[in-house]
Formats: sequence, structure tokens, C-alpha cells
Amino acid sequence: MYESLTPAPGPVMPERVRRNRASQPVASRVLGGNSEVRSVVVLGATGSVGSQAIDVIAASPSRFRAVVLAAGGANPGLLARQALRTGARAVAVTDPSAVEAFTAAFAALARAAGTPRHPLPVMLPGTEGLSAAAGWPCDVLLNALPGAAGLPATLTALEAGSLVALANKESLVAGGPLIARAARPGQLVPVDSEHSAIMQCLPGWAYGCPTHGIQRLILTCSGGPFRTHTAEQLAAVTPAQALDHPTWRMGPLVTVNSATLVNKGLEIIEAQALFALGYDRITAVIHPHPQSVVHSMAEYADGSTLAQTAPPDMRLPIATALAWPQRPPPSVIAPCDWTGSHTWTFEPVDTDRFPALVLARHAGSLGGSSPAVYNAANEEAVAAFLAGAIPFTAITQTIEHVLTHHVPIPDHDLTLEAVNATDAWARHHAREHLHTATPAPVRHTRKGD
Ligand SMILES: NC(=O)c1ccc[n+]([C@@H]2O[C@H](COP(=O)([O-])OP(=O)(O)OC[C@H]3O[C@@H](n4cnc5c(N)ncnc54)[C@H](OP(=O)(O)O)[C@@H]3O)[C@@H](O)[C@H]2O)c1
Repeated sequence: MYESLTPAPGPVMPERVRRNRASQPVASRVLGGNSEVRSVVVLGATGSVGSQAIDVIAASPSRFRAVVLAAGGANPGLLARQALRTGARAVAVTDPSAVEAFTAAFAALARAAGTPRHPLPVMLPGTEGLSAAAGWPCDVLLNALPGAAGLPATLTALEAGSLVALANKESLVAGGPLIARAARPGQLVPVDSEHSAIMQCLPGWAYGCPTHGIQRLILTCSGGPFRTHTAEQLAAVTPAQALDHPTWRMGPLVTVNSATLVNKGLEIIEAQALFALGYDRITAVIHPHPQSVVHSMAEYADGSTLAQTAPPDMRLPIATALAWPQRPPPSVIAPCDWTGSHTWTFEPVDTDRFPALVLARHAGSLGGSSPAVYNAANEEAVAAFLAGAIPFTAITQTIEHVLTHHVPIPDHDLTLEAVNATDAWARHHAREHLHTATPAPVRHTRKGD
């Protein structure tokens, strides 16, 4: 039974196809009618964003078709289910040792579905496989990899001429100048709910004059689970508490980033890179859970403020990016119920307790390699926090320390190698700082514990 599974025909994308697509204007493809079925590559298919993208794609076969899925290999069973469900032609698994488990799971699922001869997707193992997936010819590539490691994939997809639906904000944070050089107008579409909201409030975004008349962009923020914590309570937060986000179910890194507000800091840098406004014109405001329906706003110089609202559900911004500049398919999620009473509240961010925003503006204003340092130092500190080695508040202290010791490489000298070297330097420096200067976490215990 197992042997009857044969790889689907078709090689990895020929170079000729890649070059042809890269020379086509993006707009000529993405502005096509709603009747077009868009071919989609999903990087990070088994993650939080990736899995929801698979749901969106599978629910709208008349609009989307998954052609390639990519994941690390930690969850071969889920990846096999997704491959069978979507009929993807190729599957990339970065950990080559997971290919066997994927193949076995795919075979078992195909048998259970009564289709034992279902062709096995073309397997793309290792980092070369991920790169092949990123450059695969498609209409839209969704980059839902976590961390700055997603940058090469973003650059490869841009070079291949795909519309890039970017969930992996760290790409833009670490390599903003590289992406700005590689992307053609309209080629990059944000997936983050805040940036998706802003994009939808900018009628000129799809046509190359995105911020005409704009005074300020306002990113909303749930404030995370510790919005009302005192400084002392913040110092005693545990990893389990930090992983319990009030609004969104996300991967561990982005969940902790939401709790420290580093995520909002990354989003401010992301907004600057996407919408090209100065940092003094991009701000964040807390719109607390359980409201979380105003996803962000664009304030115009004429006095209008446009906001995009919807229940908090990532499937909508994912579908918006996959369909952009068309509207997504109907019924991706149910809209807000406007027949009942609603109260929306907004409050400023307390940057004394949550310094991540100040640090992000500082890193962003320094420019060049500094945002990559902000991101890499944070990732190291989050890993140490999740391992129980440092207190919650040491995460932003580590970012500040590493940023202070960094001599930025300017925008025009930034290359992928320089970003990688900066990333490695910042991680090393963060680890050293964490080993030598960071106190052990404070854990308050109840009497008798
Ligand atoms: N989650 C959200 O609601 C949300 C919202 C907005 C933006 N984002 C952004 O979206 C990105 C993804 O977040 P997430 O929460 O979906 O992350 P996640 O749940 O941790 O998922 C990460 C995905 O990437 C895969 N992956 C990890 N390392 C890989 C590698 N070296 N090669 C290939 N695949 C690899 C994982 O595969 P395995 O399962 O095999 O490890 C998994 O499929 C982040 O940049 C985040 O900031 C997330």
C-alpha cells in the first residue's frame, strides 16, 4: 500500500519560469477578476497563521488553491492532513528527518480516506526545499514563518515575482531596506490585522500612492494579559501566564511578544517600512480585550479618521491578503453585530511599564541594522524567559542593553549577509548579558506552597 504512493509529476520550478514571472508586473496578475482561482504557497502551514490559511483556502476552492505547503517538520501528521485536504503538489519540510514520518502519515490518511493511490506530493526537504517552496511559481505566497529566519524566503518570493502576503513581520523589521529594494509597488501585502486594517483605510494603497492625505496611523493593541499589572507584578509573571493571550491563539514567540508589547514595537517598525511615514506619525493605542474589534486606524489631515472593524479572527486578514486587492470571499467570518449596544474604549500605553514601544521607535529611528538587533535580542530573551531562566521584565532590559552596544550598519550598506551577521551578533550579546547580568525570575508562592 505504502509503495503505491508515487510522487506527483513535475519538477521544482524551472529557472526559465521563475524569470518569466519575475518580469511580469504584479498588478497585472493581482488585479485580475474575482473569478480567478489564485494559486497559493503557504510557508509555515502547520502554525497558527498557516493552519488558519489552510482553512480559508479549503473553504473557498473557487478563489484559492494551495500548490505548495512548507513547515519545519515538528508536526508531520498535521502537515500530511493539510497536504491531503488541499491537494498540494509539493511539500517542503526543513527537517529532512521528518520526511519519513510525513510520508507514512500521508499514506495512512490516504488509505483511511479510501484513496490509497493518492499521489504523494513532491517532497522538498531541507533548507533548499524551503527555498524552492519560496520561489515556486504562484499567484500569492503567504510567509507565515516565525522570526527573522523568514527573511530569505520573503526575498526569494519577491524575486520570483509572487504577490507576498506577509505575516512574518520580522522579515520587514530585520531586513526592511532589503525588502524595499526587492519589492515592486503593490507586491507586498500585510497579514497582521493592524496593517491589514490600515491598508484597507488607504484607498490609494493598491495604486501606488498609499498615504496621500494621511496625518497619522494609529495601531490598536489589546494591551496583552498584563495591561493592568504593576511593575512588581510584571517581574513575577510566569511563562504559562504569558502564553495565555486574551484575544488571539498564536505561536509561543508572538504570544510572549504580545504580552511584553514587543509585538506592537515590531508592528510600529513594520508600519514604518510598509507605509513610509515617519515614526512621529505612527502611534499605538490600547483598545482592550474583550473589545478588540477596531483593528487600526488612519487619521487624515482633513479631520477624518478611518477605522476597520471586525471580530478578532485572523482568518479575515489572512483572506484579505490572499484576495487583495479584491475583497475576500463572503462569510470568511461573521461581522460585528451592530444591532446590540457596544462600548469601545481606548487608552494610552504606559511606556514606563511597557518600554518595548520606546525601544522600537529608538531602534527604528536609528535604522539600518538596529531593528534587526531589537528583534534578535528579543528572540533570545524570550527563549530564556520561556525556559524559566529570566524574569519577564528582563526581556525588554536585554533588548535595551544589546541595542546600546550596537553600532548600526546604515540602510544603504545593509545586505542579507550583514543582517545575518547582525542577528548572530545580537543573539550572542544577548546570551552573554542574560548569563552574566540577569537575575533569576521572582516567583511569588502562596503560604504552604
Ligand atoms: N499567530 C498570529 O495570530 C499572528 C498574527 C499576525 C502575525 N503573525 C506572525 O506570523 C508569523 C507566524 O506566527 P505563528 O503564530 O503562526 O507561528 P507558529 O504558530 O509558531 O508557526 C510557525 C510555523 O512555521 C514553521 N516553521 C518554523 N521554523 C521553520 C523552518 N525553519 N522551516 C520551515 N518552517 C518552519 C512551523 O513548522 P513546525 O510546526 O514544523 O515547527 C509552523 O508551521 C510570525 O512572524 C508572527 O509574528 C502571527
